[in-house]
Amino acid sequence: MPRSNVSIADLPRHVAIIMDGNGRWARKRHLPRAAGHVAGVSAVRSIVRAAIDVGLENLTLYAFSSENWKRPQLEVNHLMGLFRSYFREDVDELVERNVRMRIIGNRSRAAPDILVMIEDGEARTARNTGLNLTFAFDYGAQEEIAAAARNMALAAARGQLDPSNITPEFFALHLSTRDLPDPDLIVRTGGERRLSNFLLWQSAYAELAFLDTLWPDFSRAEFIDTVTAYAQRERRFGAVAPEAVA
Ligand code: IPE
Ligand code: IPE
Ligand code: MG
Repeated sequence: MPRSNVSIADLPRHVAIIMDGNGRWARKRHLPRAAGHVAGVSAVRSIVRAAIDVGLENLTLYAFSSENWKRPQLEVNHLMGLFRSYFREDVDELVERNVRMRIIGNRSRAAPDILVMIEDGEARTARNTGLNLTFAFDYGAQEEIAAAARNMALAAARGQLDPSNITPEFFALHLSTRDLPDPDLIVRTGGERRLSNFLLWQSAYAELAFLDTLWPDFSRAEFIDTVTAYAQRERRFGAVAPEAVA
């Protein structure tokens, strides 16, 4: 496998990507939107391989938002078909390359066969210790936060939780990302400068990189450049940088 000379010390621990721009990529080529999504899956493969090769710890990919169900039924069906073929064709490689794959999002609306494939992929990769690859699938951050609040309120109503114990750290344990560090870097391809309901709680101190590149054009090289450029940024988390303290 190709190795890269990126130093692990230069890498963020957790990179999350809003993979946007498939439709516009297709329109530029006078192709149907579906062709953009097919090209988008190739980009997913190449970015996952790049993340493995550079030794990234956590990669989260926004694959389908809870609002994406509003798209035309034909497009939704086509996207679901692509998820099926991704899980069918790629889980073996993930197993082999020591990737731990998981899904965050609402599991109640996906087709039963997709749910089976997701659970099978999660089970087959559960003991892997390399890249943590998380797909946000039927994911919406507001619903995730509301569900956490709902669960805590139910526990409080049953007398199992003292509301004064609800701190930000405790709250975060009720989110679907409880096993992941907060993203250090959120990348959005496709030129829009918004989060579209992605990791709203977890992004409190994330660096944001908005790229004009359309997702199907996002290459391994641009991914590595974006991720390593992050190492140059100074993160202060509300404090003052040590060298600026008089
Ligand atoms: C992202 O590309 C893929 C999904 C949201 C599933 P889009 O389909 O949103 O592409 P644009 O934004 O229309 O170009
Ligand atoms: C965000 O892209 C969702 C995913 C990339 C899965 P959208 O294309 O759905 O976002 P909006 O509609 O432009 O905000
Ligand atoms: Mg879009």
